[in-house]
Amino acid sequence: MTSTISGEIQFGIFFHGVNFTTIWHWPESGDQIDFESFRRFAQTAERGKFAAFFLGEGLRLREHLGRLHDLDVVGRPDAQTAEAALAAVTTRLGLVATQSTTYNDPADLAYRLASLNHLSQGRNAWNIVTTHNAWTGENFRRGGYVSYEDRYRHADSFVTAVKEIWRAGERGEPGLRYRDDFYDLDVRRTLPLVPGGRPVLFQAGDSPSGRDFAVRHADIIFSAHPEFGDATAFAADIEQRALRAGRAPGSVRPFPGSTFVVADSEKEAQDKWYEVRRAQITPQTAVAYLEQFWGRELQDFDPDGPLPDVDPVITDADVTRGSGFQANNTRKLIDAWRGQARDRGWSIREFVINHTNRGNDTNGFVGTPSSIADSLQRYAETGIVAGFNISPYLTPVGLDEIVNLLVPELQDRGIYPREYAGTTLREHLGLSEEVPG
Ligand SMILES: Cc1cc2nc3c(=O)[nH]c(=O)nc-3n(C[C@H](O)[C@H](O)[C@H](O)COP(=O)(O)O)c2cc1C
Repeated sequence: MTSTISGEIQFGIFFHGVNFTTIWHWPESGDQIDFESFRRFAQTAERGKFAAFFLGEGLRLREHLGRLHDLDVVGRPDAQTAEAALAAVTTRLGLVATQSTTYNDPADLAYRLASLNHLSQGRNAWNIVTTHNAWTGENFRRGGYVSYEDRYRHADSFVTAVKEIWRAGERGEPGLRYRDDFYDLDVRRTLPLVPGGRPVLFQAGDSPSGRDFAVRHADIIFSAHPEFGDATAFAADIEQRALRAGRAPGSVRPFPGSTFVVADSEKEAQDKWYEVRRAQITPQTAVAYLEQFWGRELQDFDPDGPLPDVDPVITDADVTRGSGFQANNTRKLIDAWRGQARDRGWSIREFVINHTNRGNDTNGFVGTPSSIADSLQRYAETGIVAGFNISPYLTPVGLDEIVNLLVPELQDRGIYPREYAGTTLREHLGLSEEVPG
């Protein structure tokens, strides 16, 4: 497979805000919403020549069993706004904001993205997600606004409209008429983009239709496939789909999320990994995680005992149960989990520790700078990923050891940039192709 920056990997930081990844109760833990945390992370990332600062989006606080997730209630700032603030305190770092095609408006979002493109001088990106559940829709008084089946048909229309609006801006036109099955727009509001620095398009969504959507529109896919074998299969699948869609070889590149635990010896790294995971998954967190899937109270089950032997509650009201719940798949999923936990002798807490470790049963990258660099070298040489979106477990100091210890090792091996390739995010990621469509 060809890669656009051959032999190199890039890093991004995925600042989660609040979820399982973040450890709250260690003395170094800072504030999730204070701008100081954003600034500290961003400037450390830039010191480490990271390509991008990535923010997800949650349009409604997650719930389960009719209650809000405890950790969610602190909220988090709007991604696009946070990235705009970061543009002012950084000079090279890319700025990626997740925004849903379902609960935005193409003309408005095109304008906001063009604005940040202009103000950041070509450093911004849009991570395109679809949101199909009526439960999120209630937050907007739209209910089940887009059906599951239509989510990507609608997203296609949305993104096509955005691109046309941008093109009108690039041509210096004041607006355009856009009409299809979903939209009938008479847009009179455009803004020129930075030449060559058009917002990069990321995509996150893993179904077959999500992948086909990605190869039609995106430059980069934020994936949940970091493990080498899985990443190889994912890259091959995406490449095939991309070629079928008429894209140039290597022009749509995966950028998986992953975690890194770096220490001076392998033993220290393993011990630290386990300490981090136990701090992330407290006994209460472990039980609450399973409750999302079981759809019922499980507080009577011992977190250090086996997985609950009671049946899950299957209802249609899946969406109020949070992002983890998978409707009709639940019973099958839970049976598989019980088998896995039994085979490995895992308690509830141990199961959740392993299962939520990037969701794919891998440990992320745990080791010394040199052993992690050995692993990363394979990715760099094969070009199966453009890079990794790193989720730090501590805010805002969680990138320090990566930037201080791992990055120099990668630079010495010639598999990580010593300097930014240019000034725009497109340049950092080696993207030159104008995405067709
Ligand atoms: C790695 C990854 C990250 C995602 N991040 C977000 C997010 O931050 N906000 C959001 O609303 N949806 C997010 N999504 C959800 C997807 O956009 C999409 O709604 C969901 O995956 C259903 O699409 P699919 O059936 O193609 O997977 C993410 C999906 C993946 C795979």
